[in-house]
Amino acid sequence: MKDYKRILVTAALPYANGPVHIGHLAGCYIPADIYVRYQRAQKQDIKFVGGSDEHGVPITIRAMKEGVSPQQIVDKYHAIIKDSFEKMGISFDIYSRTTNPVHHKTAADFFKKLYDDGLFEEKETEQFYDEKTNTFLADRYITGTCPVCGNPNAYGDQCEKCGSSLSPEQLINPRSTLSDAVPVKKLTKHWYFPLQNYEPWLKQWVLEDHKEWKNNVYGQCKSWLDNGLQSRAMTRDSNWGVKVPLPGTEGKVLYVWFDAPIGYISATKELTKQWADYWCKEDTKLVHFIGKDNIVFHCIIFPAMLKAHGGFVLPDNVPANEFLNIEGEKVSTSRNWAVWVHEYLKDFPGCEDVLRYVLCANAPETKDNDFTWKDFQDRNNSELVSIFGNFVNRSLVLMHKLCGGKVPPFHNAIIDGDDKQLMEDIKAAKIKVTQSIEEYRFREALFEIIDLSRKGNQYLQKKEPWKKAGAENGQQQIDNCIHLSLQLTANLAILINPFLPVTARKILHMLKVVEKMLDWENAGSFKLLSVGYTLRAPELLFRKIEDSEIAAQVEKLRANAIAGSNTQNVEKKSAGGNVVQPMENMLKQEIVYDDFAKLDLKTGKILSAEKVEKADKLLKLEIDLGFEKRIIVSGIALHFKPEEIIGKQVVVVANLAPRKMRGIESNGMILMAEDKNGKLHFINTEEAIEPGAGVS
Ligand code: 2FM
Ligand code: ZN
Repeated sequence: MKDYKRILVTAALPYANGPVHIGHLAGCYIPADIYVRYQRAQKQDIKFVGGSDEHGVPITIRAMKEGVSPQQIVDKYHAIIKDSFEKMGISFDIYSRTTNPVHHKTAADFFKKLYDDGLFEEKETEQFYDEKTNTFLADRYITGTCPVCGNPNAYGDQCEKCGSSLSPEQLINPRSTLSDAVPVKKLTKHWYFPLQNYEPWLKQWVLEDHKEWKNNVYGQCKSWLDNGLQSRAMTRDSNWGVKVPLPGTEGKVLYVWFDAPIGYISATKELTKQWADYWCKEDTKLVHFIGKDNIVFHCIIFPAMLKAHGGFVLPDNVPANEFLNIEGEKVSTSRNWAVWVHEYLKDFPGCEDVLRYVLCANAPETKDNDFTWKDFQDRNNSELVSIFGNFVNRSLVLMHKLCGGKVPPFHNAIIDGDDKQLMEDIKAAKIKVTQSIEEYRFREALFEIIDLSRKGNQYLQKKEPWKKAGAENGQQQIDNCIHLSLQLTANLAILINPFLPVTARKILHMLKVVEKMLDWENAGSFKLLSVGYTLRAPELLFRKIEDSEIAAQVEKLRANAIAGSNTQNVEKKSAGGNVVQPMENMLKQEIVYDDFAKLDLKTGKILSAEKVEKADKLLKLEIDLGFEKRIIVSGIALHFKPEEIIGKQVVVVANLAPRKMRGIESNGMILMAEDKNGKLHFINTEEAIEPGAGVS
């Protein structure tokens, strides 16, 4: 192991084209923050940098969809993301943005150095061009019919219905999303970075020198390197991004994956005048926390760029996580299948540490993992409340009851095997937690801490200090038990601090000790609280989470997803990592007539419509089906005002099983048509039909 003098930790820069969801947190921000808080407690010289990735096609597409400028988009989402991180306790030393001038200069200078050193290949290639708007079109800006599934709205890089990777050439009837013009091919010049030239060096550096990297990371790198690397264009035709710093390159910017990782350098520059110590001195340990979809960029492309430039340190480790699914399905921002952090913060005020706990306990460290609301509730109620919180609470309550609210003395003369065992357990836990965090196994470290608090409960249970008054040496036995329990409580505060910082500070408050006690070197000590010291009254660390709260979240997730499937959102590819693939094909699996015959379709008439409270996308409709009136909840509120649709004729799936949405039972579903822009329309017939007529 190298002897490092300072540590620089980066966490992937999320695209500022949407808010962050819990998959982002689990993917890289929570692990990064745990690592950083631990290293700070170890009094390491450490900096933690992050920021928003504000360039590239994801931003311009979102701007186009929302009908505003890219700058407006990044201003809006940067603020939301930054706020979510702050509230979740992600303790960046700086959270910057790639639209900052320091970044533009740093990225442009980096490019210029590689250019001046003759390291780029200049190539002219034919790219798609929109003659109506005089714009070169990124693949995402071209739509057409998917050759695989027939989806008429496939993108030039991917069909979101069947998930096929595409190139614009494969699309049937391609069109520009800017003007609907048929794209033409036009020559354009770009600068390519010949990754293949770095292949032998990368093979040595990653595959030989970094065998200790996590299996998922090492494996992905190996597969890229085994398949052979190729030149990659590092510039794009666009007006949004860092301008190419060469004469005659109007309308050309740096490729977003060229500029974004340089954002780590720019952010460090903004943070400190000593930035070069962190980036250029060999005795810096650089660690990139990312999600799995960013591995190739951080383990192959960016290191090759740094190597080509020269003078920079390379990452010591890239502990990427896999993806976190939600309730058994992949996160999909276009289907709105996600738990948004800013919404969680509103729904569970004061429960930031609970989410940190669950996302760490369930982190996709070695494979994709699943978040379920039930598991969230169980982990809170049976681990945080019943084990950790219970031990701390019991220790303090017993101290107030049996020791007059003061830290009792410890009587060495009557120390017994249980006391000694508990002290051993505390010391052993510190060693294990330290090693696990150093090796990026945060779940393991967290379980060790919970296990230690479980041992604390068992110790209290065995010692039963509440039964000792009046026994021989009774008060001395009580003193020893409470004394050690309180020292364990103080130790738990130190160990849990990187994971649950708010909880650690609540314990400090009750113990009336200063923040300095959280220094890691104090863990394993039994002299953290002085004898005779008066402590505060205990307060509960965690509250129980009720079934109704969980049911409401599951319902919200499903209701939003139903509503989201009626709107075409832009996918937010994630920095923490979550590839988002649509779930259904354009044409579903073939069915037989009997399957169809199971559907009971009826005509209906909308009698009344009203908004559903706290659900932007839902309308509660009363539908006349002729033979009865029904309540149906429908995700169409973003498309129609309630008053506009009264009296409209609709087709209703009348025998759909009832389902609760936002507490309202929905009895059926109305059918709508969705055009290529995601707008919904009533399927009108010329003539009015009596409600209740069968449709077949
Ligand atoms: O995948 C993403 O969300 C990217 N915006 C991550 C960039 S990480 C770094 F290189 F900046
Ligand atoms: Zn398709």
